[in-house]
Amino acid sequence: MWSSTLLLVLSTIVLPASAAMVKEGSKCTVTPLTKTTALEQRDVSTAELVEARQSRIDDTPQILEAFSQCGQDGTIVIEEGTYHIRQVMDTMNLRNVSIEIYGTLIWSADNLDYWRRASFDVTYAQRQTAWRIGGRDITMRGFGKALFDGNGQAWIDLANGASNLNGRPISLTVWYGTNVWIDGITWRMAQFWHTFVAHSENVTMTNLDMYTLSSNGRSSQNTDGTDTWNSKNIFIANWTVTCGDDCIAVKGNSTNVHVKNVVCTESGATVIGSIGSNAYQPDYVENIVFENITAKHSSNAAWIKTYPGSGYVRNVTFRNIHFEDVNQPIYLSSCIYSYNNCDSSRLQITDVTWQNITGTSRYNVAAAIHCSAAAPCDGFHFEDIDIKPKNGGTAKVLCSNIRNQASMGLTCTGPCPGSQPQQLSGNV
Ligand SMILES: *[C@@H]1O[C@H](CO)[C@@H](O)[C@H](O)[C@H]1NC(C)=O
Ligand SMILES: *[C@@H]1O[C@H](CO)[C@@H](O)[C@H](O)[C@H]1NC(C)=O
Ligand SMILES: *[C@@H]1O[C@H](CO)[C@@H](O)[C@H](O)[C@H]1NC(C)=O
Ligand SMILES: *[C@@H]1O[C@H](CO)[C@@H](O)[C@H](O)[C@H]1NC(C)=O
Ligand SMILES: *[C@@H]1O[C@H](CO)[C@@H](O)[C@H](O)[C@H]1NC(C)=O
Ligand SMILES: *[C@@H]1O[C@H](CO)[C@@H](O)[C@H](O)[C@H]1NC(C)=O
Ligand SMILES: *[C@@H]1O[C@H](CO)[C@@H](O)[C@H](O)[C@H]1NC(C)=O
Repeated sequence: MWSSTLLLVLSTIVLPASAAMVKEGSKCTVTPLTKTTALEQRDVSTAELVEARQSRIDDTPQILEAFSQCGQDGTIVIEEGTYHIRQVMDTMNLRNVSIEIYGTLIWSADNLDYWRRASFDVTYAQRQTAWRIGGRDITMRGFGKALFDGNGQAWIDLANGASNLNGRPISLTVWYGTNVWIDGITWRMAQFWHTFVAHSENVTMTNLDMYTLSSNGRSSQNTDGTDTWNSKNIFIANWTVTCGDDCIAVKGNSTNVHVKNVVCTESGATVIGSIGSNAYQPDYVENIVFENITAKHSSNAAWIKTYPGSGYVRNVTFRNIHFEDVNQPIYLSSCIYSYNNCDSSRLQITDVTWQNITGTSRYNVAAAIHCSAAAPCDGFHFEDIDIKPKNGGTAKVLCSNIRNQASMGLTCTGPCPGSQPQQLSGNV
C-alpha cells in the first residue's frame, strides 16, 4: 500500500547522525545526505515519496558533528550539493578552524513554529538567530560557491508587514567571535537580517552577495545586510546587497568599523543606528568609515538614526558615496520612528564628515538633519556634496541644532523639524 511504503521509506531514512560526515586527521568532510548510498539505494518512485523523503532529510546533525569533531584546530569542508537545515545550529567554542563551504544550505520553511521557538536569543531587541558561530581564529569561506537560502519568502509572508516578528531568525550571527573572517558567501532570501555581529572583535567580512526582496506585495522589511553591535574592529568590503531594509547598519557600542566597496540596492544603504533605544543604557559608536558605496533606489544613503537616548556617536566618515534615486540621501534624526522628544535626546553626535557625496534625490531634499536641542551636533563637515533632485530643480538642505553650522561647509536652506520623516512621499 502507498501509505505503508511511505512509512517504510520514512522510517528507513533516519540515518545515524554523522552518516555522511567523514573525519580524516583534523579534517571533517560533509557531503549531502541526499547523495549517500543508503538513500540512493531506496526505491523511491513517486513524486510524493520523493517529496516526503526530501522534507524529512536533515543535514543539520552531520554538520553539527563536523563542528564538534573538527571545530578546534581543524578544517570543516562542506562539499558541493544541497543540504537541508531543519534545526538551529549553535557552533560556539570554535578555535583555529577553517570552514570551507561549497554547497547550498537551505533552511526549512515547513516548520516555522520550530524556528520561532528554538532560535537563539541574541539579546539585541529580543532578536533571535538560526545559527551562531563563536570562538576565535575562525575562517568561513564560500569561494563564491556557498549559497545560503533562508526560504525568506515564507518569513515575509508570515510576518506580513509586522516589523519585528518574534522568533524570526537572523541567518548567521557572529556571537562572541574573535579574529573571524567570512568570505565569498551568497545569500538568497534570508529569513530576517542576513548577518549580525555581536560581542565580537576583529571580524572581516568580504565578498558577500545578498539578495532578499519579496516576490509578492508583502514588504521585505528587516532583511538587513548586516548589523554590528557591541563589537569592535570590523572590516567589511566588496558586498552586493539588495534587500528591503538597511544594507549596513552600525548599531550601539560599535567601534572601529570600516566599510568599503559596497553596492546597496532597494535598501537603507549605510547607516549608524538605530541606537539609543534603551533609555537606561547608553550606546556608544565611534571611529566609523563608510567609503566607496553605491546606493540604488534606496530610502537613504548616508545617515544616522537615534532614539532620544544617551551615549554618543563620534568620528564618523561617509566618503565617496554615489547614488541614484534615493528618497532622502543625507538624513539624521534624534527621535527616529516616534518623531517625539527629539530635543531632549542626550545622545550627542559629533565629528561627522560627509565627503564626495553625489547623486540624485527622489524629491527636493538633499539633506535633512535634526539634532537634539539638549545635545546639539558639533564638528560636522561637508565637502564636495552634489545632490540633485532626479526630476530637476534644486535640493534643499534642512538643518536644526548643529553647533558649527556656519563653518560646516554646506549651506542650510531652512530648519529641519523633529517630525521630518525618514522617507518623504513628495517634495517639501
Ligand atoms: C591550527 O590547526 C591546524 C590543523 O588544522 C594545526 O596544524 C595548527 O598547528 C593549528 N594552529 C595552532 C596555532 O594551534
Ligand atoms: C585583534 O587584532 C589585532 C590586530 O591584528 C590583534 O593585535 C589583537 O590581539 C586581536 N584581538 C584579539 C582579542 O585577539
Ligand atoms: C575586492 O574586490 C576586488 C576586485 O574584485 C579585489 O581586487 C579585492 O581584492 C577585493 N578585496 C577584498 C578585501 O577581498
Ligand atoms: C569601489 O567599489 C566598486 C564595487 O562596488 C569596485 O568595483 C571599485 O573597484 C571600487 N573602487 C575603489 C577605488 O576601490
Ligand atoms: C554599551 O556599553 C556601555 C559601556 O560599556 C554599557 O554600559 C551599555 O550597557 C552598552 N549598551 C548596550 C546597549 O549594550
Ligand atoms: C577617527 O576614526 C578613524 C577611522 O577609524 C581613525 O583612523 C582616527 O584615528 C579616529 N580619530 C580619532 C580622533 O579618534
Ligand atoms: C568621489 O567618489 C566617486 C565614487 O562615488 C569616485 O569615483 C571618485 O573618484 C571620488 N572622487 C574623489 C576626488 O575621490
